[in-house]
Parts: sequence; C-alpha cells; structure tokens
Amino acid sequence: MDRPRRRDDDRFYDKISLIVDSLGSLGRLDKREFLKQVFEATFELIPEAQKGSLFELQGETFRPIFCRGYDFSVLSRILFGRDEAFVDFEVGSKTSIVARETRITGRDPAIFSAETIEAFGVLGTLSGFTALYAPISVAGLNVGILSLEKFDDTGFLDLSRKILQYYARLISQFYAQRLHQERETRRYKDIVNSLVSAIQVMDKHTEGHAQRVRDYSLAIAARLGLSEEAVSEIGTAALLHDVGKLGIPTHILRKPGRLSSEEYETVKLHAGDGFRILSSIEGFERIAEMAYHHHERHDGKGYPEGLSGDEISLGAQLIGLADAFDAMTSERAYRPAMSTAAAVGVIREEAGTQFNPRIAAAALEVIGSLKDLARVS
Ligand SMILES: [Fe+2]
Ligand SMILES: [Fe+2]
Repeated sequence: MDRPRRRDDDRFYDKISLIVDSLGSLGRLDKREFLKQVFEATFELIPEAQKGSLFELQGETFRPIFCRGYDFSVLSRILFGRDEAFVDFEVGSKTSIVARETRITGRDPAIFSAETIEAFGVLGTLSGFTALYAPISVAGLNVGILSLEKFDDTGFLDLSRKILQYYARLISQFYAQRLHQERETRRYKDIVNSLVSAIQVMDKHTEGHAQRVRDYSLAIAARLGLSEEAVSEIGTAALLHDVGKLGIPTHILRKPGRLSSEEYETVKLHAGDGFRILSSIEGFERIAEMAYHHHERHDGKGYPEGLSGDEISLGAQLIGLADAFDAMTSERAYRPAMSTAAAVGVIREEAGTQFNPRIAAAALEVIGSLKDLARVS
C-alpha cells in the first residue's frame, strides 16, 4: 500500500522537533561548541543555503567566527566597525530579532574599503546573490550577525526565514545568559574582595594572611586531585576563613602581646561569627561551613564544636592546615617567624593528631612550592 503523501505541515513539525531535540544538550556546551552546533544546524534545516557565516562583535569590531563554503582566512579580512556591519542590511526593531532577506546587486566603494571589496571579490560576494540574515542582539545591542547566502536567482523559503530567526533568537539568548553569568561572577568576586579588605583594615598585622592561606590551600587541594569546582570553592573559603574577626574588638585583635585566656575565648568566637556572615550569602553554604570549622582538629581537640576525623569537611581540614602553616611561618609581635623547615617538622609530627594524615602528606609534598609562595626562608 502506498504511504499517504506527507503534507508540508508534517515536514515543518519534523524540522521543529529536530531543533527541539538538539536543544537538550546545548546548555552544557561551552560557547564555541554551542555556536558551532547551532551554526551547523541552520544548514541542516535550511538546505537551500549554500554558504554562510557568523560574525561576532569583539571589542569595537565584528569578526567572523564560523563560516561554511568560504575560505575563512579570506573572510577574516572582512572586518566591520560597530556601526558598519549592517550597512547592507536592515536591522529592524530593537526589541525583537527579525530575519530578513536581501538581494546583493553590488558593493558600494564609498562604503567599503578597497581591501574589503577585494576580499568580496575573492569570496565571490560582490554581487548576484541573496542573503538571509538576522542580527544576534542582547538588550537591543547588536553583538553578531548570522547570514546565509544563496547564489542563484531564487530567494529563500519563508519557513527558512522563520528558522533562521528562531536560531538568531536562540544564539541571542545564549549571549544574554553568558553576560548574566559574567556579571554574577564579577559580583561574587566583588563580595569576596570587599570582605577580604574589610578584614585587612581591622587586622593589619596579618596582612596578606588570607591570600597566602588561599595559595597554600589551592596547592594542597590540587595535589589531592580535587575537582576544579571543589578547588575553587576551597580557594574562596580560604580567603574568607577569618572573616568573623570583623566581630572581635580591635583592642584584642591588634594587641601586640600574648592574649589573656579571656581574650583568647573572644578570638575563638570568630569561627561562629564567620559562619553567620558567610551563610547569609546565597550559594556560600559550603564556604560558610569551611570557615566555621577551620580551627577544628583531626583529634577532636579543636573548636568551636570539637569535631574529629571525617566529621570535619575535607576543605575545612585543608584550610586549617594551610592556616596553621602560615601562622607558624609568619612573624608575630611576641615571637619571630618559624623557619619553613621547622614548620615542616611540626606538620610531620602533628599528622594524625592536629592534622588529617592524608592532607598533611599532600601538604608535605607541595611544601617546596609552599615555601616559594610564603617567601620565607
Ligand atoms: Fe582563624
Ligand atoms: Fe587564619
């Protein structure tokens, strides 16, 4: 029996489902891979397109990042300034991304440089083709252009225009999302930096302590083979481990001599205060926990909770060791700095008591670089 002829509608739905299927995995890709897949997919869905390119705004210049059917090195000679890229194209409204078709019948030498015209000549895009294009835009600002070309006398299908428009919107959303992520990362770094400088203003004689503890912690965490995400979180927690010191009266914090036992009890409150400050920041739950437990000891003799062994998170134990190493090798008003060799001796001796033996072993292995980082002899 003959299969019934499929209507155009069916083919349209097939195409749409192809797009939707491809979306699932796109979110996990990095920018280049994402753009490449979307760019390639437009050709699958718009088979009448013969050539095409994707330009991206980099600084003040639009540069090609992908092309099909062209010599990329020749195409790369075509650069447009921020205001020139859409010279042959109509951009349309700022609020919605619209794909349009245009017939290129010649290039105006008054608009394009001689070099660009020459490159058009080599690419075969001086005249006599139809371009289907759409801007990539974020918040009304054009940051790219997706363009497909067809070198015969007929235009693109209306469905193709809709598909290109859809893809241009998809790419635009991806750019908007990335911009949002970059802003979030900047915001995160700003919070961390301002907290670190607040501690340093309060506690001048431990200048550079937070950064050194971070550097040591990162080196040890990398040695232990922790995931990139875990290493980065430990780095942030290490920078902020003493943030609770903001709550300690300055006469205690800046006291040049040894602390009385009462003053020492006040200093110990910084672990809990740090936890309260950091846990109020969304997404800082684990960082807050590491700051809370950085004075716990492997043998359970630390504070504030007297946890032992694996009850203490690996990050907190690691920061605790890095903190102790920096405290030992830094000068205090009431005692000179210990030599690196002596501090190494203490770590070795305290492995299994103050320190988790596994972390102590990793620290001892990277101690050469720790010494470089510490800039002490
Ligand atoms: Fe501390
Ligand atoms: Fe510390």
